Amino acid sequence: MRALVCHSYGPPENLTLQETPTLIPDRSQILIDVYAASLNFPDTLQIQGKYQFQPPMPFIPGSEIGGVVRSVGADVKGFAQGDRVMAAPSIGGIAEQVLAAPSAVRHIPDNMDFKTAAGFAMVYTTAWHALKQRAQLRPGETLLVLGASGGVGMAAVELGKLLGARVIAAASSAEKLDFVSQLDPDELLNYGDGDLKEKVKALTDDKGADVIFDPVGGSLFDQATRCIHWNGRILVVGFASGRIPEYKANLALLKGASMVGVFLGRFRKEEPHLYEENFRELLDLYGKGSVKPVISQTFALEDYVAAFNVFSERQAMGKVVLSLRAD
Ligand SMILES: NC(=O)c1ccc[n+]([C@@H]2O[C@H](COP(=O)([O-])OP(=O)(O)OC[C@H]3O[C@@H](n4cnc5c(N)ncnc54)[C@H](OP(=O)(O)O)[C@@H]3O)[C@@H](O)[C@H]2O)c1
Repeated sequence: MRALVCHSYGPPENLTLQETPTLIPDRSQILIDVYAASLNFPDTLQIQGKYQFQPPMPFIPGSEIGGVVRSVGADVKGFAQGDRVMAAPSIGGIAEQVLAAPSAVRHIPDNMDFKTAAGFAMVYTTAWHALKQRAQLRPGETLLVLGASGGVGMAAVELGKLLGARVIAAASSAEKLDFVSQLDPDELLNYGDGDLKEKVKALTDDKGADVIFDPVGGSLFDQATRCIHWNGRILVVGFASGRIPEYKANLALLKGASMVGVFLGRFRKEEPHLYEENFRELLDLYGKGSVKPVISQTFALEDYVAAFNVFSERQAMGKVVLSLRAD
């Protein structure tokens, strides 16, 4: 089978598209024919050796796929050859086939195509966990989403609306805000000129936002902690800007505000039942047409360099997917 292999850390140009040995599932594994593999920001860090989880070399990147079950190990229950599935195998996804544990595989709704299946799990389960369990977002509260056109940002805008919040979708350019407007946020905010704080205050009667969803960090985080409402919660989701910011304790004191960490992987380990419940709710919402993930950029497998560079060039809007087989 063909697979994208990382032999040495560096830019996507270092990766090799090559033939690798055919995979055979053991008793507890599922072998899946990959139709689509999505890219996430952490994939770009992982190939550079900069992510918190680094597999041993050489490795096949790609943590999320949509595809069809080719065969199952003797002990696997609940899945059979031909099932349409999404899987989060943690690595190995950017390949024509992947092995996954049953706990990382889910059947997909009939109305979900493989590209959507590949790009759904990580961003929606992260945003849902952040807004529900971590922020405990309430109807009528104001939710400010930074990096709103990116993967987790897009999901946070949609899910914030579903939870009844007034959503301010914020991004760095008019083009990105134009993209986000299809998700129907209540307000759009362009921070491309570096000014976030005053614009948030202007949109909130000088009070600030109740909940701030921050996958960006850096100077946006610094400003966000200065435009947060009394009893506000700032959700630390990621540091796409490259700088891990520091929270000034005096600002927490003055605003009665909290910084709340969000870590999907740990949540899944510590509270698996809640994670599963969240996932079921999200697939249900998708089945009913209440959430509509936007796959904005699809690349052929051979164009993997361009696909990875979408993230490093700060161009990601919605989900970025590599297509390996026609739907
Ligand atoms: N905590 C968790 O469990 C968890 C789970 C999933 C992802 N994450 C993290 O969440 C972050 C976002 O992931 P994603 O998949 O949504 O990525 P993405 O699609 O690339 O979105 C990131 C957004 O950050 C903004 N940004 C600001 N400076 C940037 C820079 N120098 N380079 C790239 N983007 C920049 C961009 O929006 P503007 O240009 O509009 O500012 C972009 O839309 C990542 O740090 C990722 O590791 C965390």
